[in-house]
Amino acid sequence: MPSFRRTLFSLACVACFAGALAASAQSAAPPQTPAQDRPWMNKSFSPDRRADLVLQQMTLEEKLNFVHGTGWNGLRERAEIPKGSLGGAGYVEGVARLGIPGVNMADSAVGVRLSGAGSHYATLLPSVLGAASSWDPKALFLFGDVIGRELRETGYNMSIGGGMDLARDPRNGRNFEYAGEDPLLAGTMVGNLAKGVQSNQVMGDIKHYAFNDEETGRNIFNAEITQRAARESDLLAFQIAIEMAHPAGVMCSYNKDTITPPDTSPDWSCQNDYLLNQVLKKDWGFQGFVLSDWGGTHSTVHAFMSGLDQEQPGSIFFGEPLKKAIEDGQVPMSRLNEAVHRVLRSMFANGVIDNPPQAEEADPFVGRREAEHIADESIVLLRNEENILPFSASQVHSIALIGGHADVAVLSGGGSAQVDAPGGGAVDPHAGSAHWLEHVWFPSSPERNIRLHDPSADIQFNEGADVQSAAALAAKSQIAIVFVTQWMSEGMDRPTIELPENQDALVEAVAKANSHTIVVIESGGPVAMPWVDDVAAILEAWFPGIGGAQSLADILFGDVDPSGRLAITFPKNDAQLPRPQIPGLVAETGPGGLPENAHHNKPIPFDVDYNLEGARVGYKWFESQRETPLFAFGYGLSYTTFAFSDLSVDAAQRTATFTVSNNGSRSGAEVAQVYAVLPASTGENTYKRLVGWDRVALAPGESKTIMVPMNQLALSIFDVAKNAFVLAPGDYTIFAGSSSADTPLRASVHVE
Ligand code: BGC
Repeated sequence: MPSFRRTLFSLACVACFAGALAASAQSAAPPQTPAQDRPWMNKSFSPDRRADLVLQQMTLEEKLNFVHGTGWNGLRERAEIPKGSLGGAGYVEGVARLGIPGVNMADSAVGVRLSGAGSHYATLLPSVLGAASSWDPKALFLFGDVIGRELRETGYNMSIGGGMDLARDPRNGRNFEYAGEDPLLAGTMVGNLAKGVQSNQVMGDIKHYAFNDEETGRNIFNAEITQRAARESDLLAFQIAIEMAHPAGVMCSYNKDTITPPDTSPDWSCQNDYLLNQVLKKDWGFQGFVLSDWGGTHSTVHAFMSGLDQEQPGSIFFGEPLKKAIEDGQVPMSRLNEAVHRVLRSMFANGVIDNPPQAEEADPFVGRREAEHIADESIVLLRNEENILPFSASQVHSIALIGGHADVAVLSGGGSAQVDAPGGGAVDPHAGSAHWLEHVWFPSSPERNIRLHDPSADIQFNEGADVQSAAALAAKSQIAIVFVTQWMSEGMDRPTIELPENQDALVEAVAKANSHTIVVIESGGPVAMPWVDDVAAILEAWFPGIGGAQSLADILFGDVDPSGRLAITFPKNDAQLPRPQIPGLVAETGPGGLPENAHHNKPIPFDVDYNLEGARVGYKWFESQRETPLFAFGYGLSYTTFAFSDLSVDAAQRTATFTVSNNGSRSGAEVAQVYAVLPASTGENTYKRLVGWDRVALAPGESKTIMVPMNQLALSIFDVAKNAFVLAPGDYTIFAGSSSADTPLRASVHVE
């Protein structure tokens, strides 16, 4: 804001003037150059050297301030906001006398959180699961770039977004913050997201490490998994993202883990030596710092020595007790220095000391367009009978819009990923930030945007609460579009993939009344569709973000070709899942609601047996069980059609080359996917695994021959004895096609 900037400028001039006076008063002393005074400000030194130079000057108290937060900040009403903190989720005190700023952290899974508190609204992006369904690394970089830019614009220097737990269970309340069920896809997508954040000289983060794959009992459950399966699934996703993005932070998760070997009993993720010291820091060479999830620290010496570098959000364990442990010699000073070094080197590496953010005002208009672009690539067309879509405005004269507040808004996901809606929300507006477990609707109106495409059509809205009246409106309209919603949030899981609140009955009734029924789903994850064969078309829009309605309308009317492909399997029902019931979830008590204490802080700890599926997460489970899902991983339609031909595989170069053709009459983009089945000797030959892909844009009639690199890690198995990924010798079958279930091309290669 100009006036704000002017104030800053004049304050700065007062400071210059005062500084000049002080300098002339001290003119007897020899002048010190910044280089002598603060040698760490020499940008030609490496981040590590610069960090060490600062460290040498720090007192014990100053060092200790770097290994813990300063309280609940803006997260809890009436919590004290320390000086220097912007009131985000976390604040770590800097060292003003050495010119080292504090670390201001904001939750930012799908946009900057708590922005409503200061009326500095941030852009709501599509859900991460939606964005991952673009299979477009550039879109994910842009996603992170928007977040990084808006963090900078609001004065933050660290993001604590970057969620990436694998979608082992489609009912996990946080799947919308994560990038799906495949380690290569999720790792690549979140790695690009974190790169985008850090491209703004803001520190990035990847979370929740590891196996926080359900929310039910997240503070008490113990995830059991073998080391090999762990390394080939969730940990592989983290490895790919961390090695790609070099994030400043990795947030360890709330749950316990038993990773066998080496674990012989459960221990918290934030004090698991294998996860933190052995895998993250040693095997992957992670140079940033490990911060606990909020309240996820459980001890002092054990946690600190197991690799946790920073307790968040307070200092219960890493404040006074850690100081005492250091003074008593239980924790060597070298370990404290290492932890502080990790924070400082991350600050230097990301430019937050050289170029600290100056708070201005985020530009939500730029962000809206970017969010819309990502939504364009995220929305998945699941069904399109007789090519009912796209509509042609000249042929559509009346439309019934039903449900989902489609007259005014699109739905967003809750929890710490909740972004505040500009103006306080399109349904139930109120000032300030959203409350926990509140359903927040963003002012992106499907009705308005559909009208813009078809101004002369008779468009009527029915809120869908009364099935009969909705069906009556559908019966007298040419087209019916039903918007169904499935709200999701941190702190809860859905007990079932079934749609809540009688929405299945609504769709059935509308479909019965009108054979031209289109269903638009706004959901955190997969939903069951008992009506799948009764409707003409289905679009999965996820939580589509602030540009969601524009994007949906563009897709409905064919200005944008749907190019999203599912980053998660859509099962037919809960019975198809490895765990038909969510472990630890007790009966739902509230009507349609999910009281947090029923899911969250249950008193009796329990185990979740992830060895059931092991590394066979999602589509791999379905294939190995010979179960057919409702919609397969990688699936999605376009308004045109594609064909695949001529696969050849170069085993030495690890590439798959084939031709993709657009044999329809419209332009479109296909996600050409490459899968491998490993040799029988691996014991992992009962399912395919994604090893590479490319998004190919093709004009009508156009063909392109593409060479897709096959990821070495994704082709390999983890050899526990060698502590390394190895390419098993034997025969591999390589497949190419348009989804995990539709791979028309196949070739065999032998690896010695
Ligand atoms: C969530 C984290 C979040 C933190 C701070 C925790 O409850 O699990 O993802 O970053 O709160 O808001």
